[in-house]
Amino acid sequence: MNYTFEQYQQSADAIRAKIGSFQPKVAMVLGSGLGYMGDIVENAIAVPYQEIPHFKTSTAPGHKGQLVFGTLEGKPVAVMQGRMHHYEGYSYEEVGYAVRVLRLLGCDTLIVTNAAGCVNMNWKAGDLMLITDQIKIFMESPLRGENLPQFGVRFPDASHLYTPALQQMARKTARELRIDLKEGVYMYFPGPQYETPAEVRFARMAGADAVGMSTAPEVIVAGHCGMQVLGFTLLSNMAAGILDRPLSEEEVLEAAAACRDKFSKLVLACLKQIG
Ligand code: 6GU
Repeated sequence: MNYTFEQYQQSADAIRAKIGSFQPKVAMVLGSGLGYMGDIVENAIAVPYQEIPHFKTSTAPGHKGQLVFGTLEGKPVAVMQGRMHHYEGYSYEEVGYAVRVLRLLGCDTLIVTNAAGCVNMNWKAGDLMLITDQIKIFMESPLRGENLPQFGVRFPDASHLYTPALQQMARKTARELRIDLKEGVYMYFPGPQYETPAEVRFARMAGADAVGMSTAPEVIVAGHCGMQVLGFTLLSNMAAGILDRPLSEEEVLEAAAACRDKFSKLVLACLKQIG
C-alpha cells in the first residue's frame, strides 16, 4: 500500500482544523521514558491519533497515541506521544507517516530519542549517546514505492541524515551542562525479539554502538523531505551476550525512568537553541 500526497494533506488539514494558525517548527518523536515531555508542553493542544484521518494508533506500552502541539522552551513544537514501530505490525511507510504530516504543517527539524541496547564495550547502561549516523540495511525502506516528489527526490542522499550543525550544538550543550554525552552509530533491528549475542557481535563489527527497534525509519523519511535531524539514544542496558543475564522490558523502562531528568535536561537545552 502507498499513501498519496492527498492523504498526507488530508491529515494535515484535519490537524490544522484543531490547532488553527499555530505553526510547529520542531517535531519531537520521543521514545521510552521521555514521552512525558508531551505533558509539559505549554498552551498544549492534544490531537489523538484516532482523530486524524489515515493515522494509525500506537500500541506499545507507555506510549499514549497523540500529537501535542504547543511551546517548549519557547519553541513551537509538535510532540508525538507514542510512535509506531514496525514490530507492532505497521509497514515502514506507516511508521514514517506522521513525520511527513508534520513536515506539511511546517516542521523543519526533527528531534528523535530512543532507548537502545549498548554494543560499545567501553560504555555502560545509563549512558547517553548522540546519534551521528545509523545503519538500516537488508530491509525495506520507508520510501519504497512510487516517489512523492512533493516531499523529495527518488534517490535521496543520506550522507548527513543527522545534521552536523545540530550535532555540534548538542556536543557543546552537553559540555556546558556537564552531561557525559557519548556519540556513535545506531543500528536498527526490527524486533520485537532482542538481538542474539551473535547479532550483537555482527552489529559491533559493522560499526554500531547501539542497537534498537525505532528511529531509523522516521529519520530516513525526515531526511528525504529535507528536515534537519537531531537524535539521542539512552543506552538503557548492555546488548545481549555482554553481561551474563537476560534482557527484559522492565530493565529498559527502569533505566529510562532513572535517566529521565538528565536526558530531558539535555534535550530541552538543545531544543532551546534550535534556530
Ligand atoms: Cl538490547 N536491543 C534492541 N533492539 N532494542 C533495545 C535494546 C536492545 N535495549 C533497549 N532497546
